[in-house]
Amino acid sequence: MQRRSFLSLTAAAAGVSALSALPVRAQTAPNAARAASPGGVLTVEATTDNDGRPMYSVHRQGRTVVEASKLGFLLTDAPALERGLRLTATQPVAFDETWEQPWGERRLIRNHYNEFRVTYAETGGLARRFDVVFRLYDDGLGFRYEFPEQPGLTTARIGSELTEFNLAENGEALWCPAWEWNREEYLYNRTPIDAVANAQTPMTVKSRSGLHVSIHEAACVDYAGMNLRRSEGTKFRAQLTPGLTNAAVVRTLPFNTPWRTLQIADTGAGLIESGLILNLNEPNKLGDVSWFKPMKYVGVWWEMHLELKSWNSGPKHGATTENAIKHIDFAAKHGFGGVLVEGWNKGWDGQWFANGSDFSFTEAYPDFDIEAVCAHARSKGVQLIGHHETGGNAFVYEPQLEAAMALYERLGVHSVKTGYVADAGGARVAGPDGKVAMTWHESQAMAQHHMKVVEVAARHKVAVNAHEPFKDTGLRRTYPNIISREGQRGMEYSAWGNPGNPPEHESNLVFTRLLAGPMDYTPGIFGMETRSPGGVQTTWAKQLALYVVIYSPIQMAADLLVNYETNPGPFQFIKDVPVDWEETRVLAAELGDHVVIARKERGGDVWALGAITDEHPRVLTAALSFLDPGRTYRAEIYRDGPDADYRGKRESIVIEQKTVTSADVLTLALAPGGGQAIRFVPTGRGRRGQ
Ligand code: NOJ
Ligand code: CA
Repeated sequence: MQRRSFLSLTAAAAGVSALSALPVRAQTAPNAARAASPGGVLTVEATTDNDGRPMYSVHRQGRTVVEASKLGFLLTDAPALERGLRLTATQPVAFDETWEQPWGERRLIRNHYNEFRVTYAETGGLARRFDVVFRLYDDGLGFRYEFPEQPGLTTARIGSELTEFNLAENGEALWCPAWEWNREEYLYNRTPIDAVANAQTPMTVKSRSGLHVSIHEAACVDYAGMNLRRSEGTKFRAQLTPGLTNAAVVRTLPFNTPWRTLQIADTGAGLIESGLILNLNEPNKLGDVSWFKPMKYVGVWWEMHLELKSWNSGPKHGATTENAIKHIDFAAKHGFGGVLVEGWNKGWDGQWFANGSDFSFTEAYPDFDIEAVCAHARSKGVQLIGHHETGGNAFVYEPQLEAAMALYERLGVHSVKTGYVADAGGARVAGPDGKVAMTWHESQAMAQHHMKVVEVAARHKVAVNAHEPFKDTGLRRTYPNIISREGQRGMEYSAWGNPGNPPEHESNLVFTRLLAGPMDYTPGIFGMETRSPGGVQTTWAKQLALYVVIYSPIQMAADLLVNYETNPGPFQFIKDVPVDWEETRVLAAELGDHVVIARKERGGDVWALGAITDEHPRVLTAALSFLDPGRTYRAEIYRDGPDADYRGKRESIVIEQKTVTSADVLTLALAPGGGQAIRFVPTGRGRRGQ
């Protein structure tokens, strides 16, 4: 009955009342299956064409968003799985849960979708098959391929994935290039959709009629990362990261691919508020992770990027016992939870980023007494944040992982920043033959490597913040010890200058990279020191706003300590701003231009607001209706001074207080490259002024 038949959705069929509102179309081709999201906002149709090629399309409120797009695979040792397929489908099943994050941008996330499974089976030959499982949400969808065990295919050697995203409408795309030497760290392009070349994901577009769509992936486990190649017009094709052989992915059946995701919303705010990527990941597999606490940290770090200190040993060595203790004492005095110390371990001498195979992850340089430093930190209620730079040499790191994480556990170090500095294609892993093989940062081999690191770290109660990482696909839901990562140009580019991150960079991140998950961006730079001109291109007020706009359960106060000691006024916001949130509301958002986000602290009543703009000055308004009605708040405002400008008076900041209620609307005047940060502290119940 279901075979080759249109799948009509009724409450009776699915056995759930939530489905009764789904629209049911009268006519559809016989070789099609269709289902809608819980509120009927999105509809997906899976079909085959006349050649038996598998296709899907996406529709939203009567408009087509994704035109018929191909599905399938090219295999390296067997005929392609791309045509001669017959479709059957299951009835949709509704799912609705609300789950709790251990920490996050909001505590509770609703996971509400309708799922249906389409089986594509070869009508002749090897009679191979794969399923495509669609999960439809009102704010987007995910679909993944599932390969059940079968006689005609035991190991899939995937050369290419044929998945297409054939966007129905042209418009503007925000994207950064894929396959270039600097991996994920590129400035964004803003071009017509039909002028995109090879793009990383998330790639976000705003169609001419105003629809916002972001293409990405979720739950990438033991698979190659996906980039997008525009094949023609506004049609994109999945482009898998190359593997160690001519296959990008080698998997024994049964297995599932990552989810291919489309977040779809009327506004940029809708994309930012979506929980789609996390929802498509499996629930927490680690259980109690209360050994990690969200925190802010300082570090022996910016001074290295300014070349005032060095990672390597010698007269400029930054990671000395004395310097670490100075930072620990500062952290304890000002309420920071952690101190990052880079360059503590042997292996940095010489050209570490070209060589890097000398790294030891257990032996400290003689001028760094790791036992004494950690004992001092513990006595002050501060944690050392571990550091494992590998230079991309996963094959050097893996044999040391167990001992390295055990050392941190013994010393009370519950998080580590890892690093994979190597050019694209220049990471190194142990290949299947035991020999060292070059690989890409988002290859299947590196997906396996990162999973190994996360699992060993979790066993030793260590959380991981990877730089030069594999992209974020929401795995922090399953493995909450994946706390943050880099994966785009961070603040360090501004230390180097020439060019630093331009003023629109953070506004671009919000609508792309940050949709994937937390970023260790390392804001908080007041100092004027940079290595060459064109350094930090934001005002001070914007540096503060970034603590609210960019979500991460670890946030660095990245500047030199002296710049905080000499600027206690603005530093106060960095000390006060929470890092863990009960709730997040996006008050205003325009793709790549500006954003205003309000977040409520978890376990308290304080709200914080961050507003940022690009190079253009703007006057925005923020209705404070998110505050508790009937309550008064002290708004601690950090705003751009009248002459603030990222090209000149970065430091011009006005710090003032106002009494406000949920009925107030604030006017936010942002300077070029500027921003505004506000902390709302409840002062009592009743009318203003009481
Ligand atoms: C690149 C990282 O992004 C940076 O934060 C770190 O300091 C260096 N690698 C050295 O590990
Ligand atoms: Ca980096």
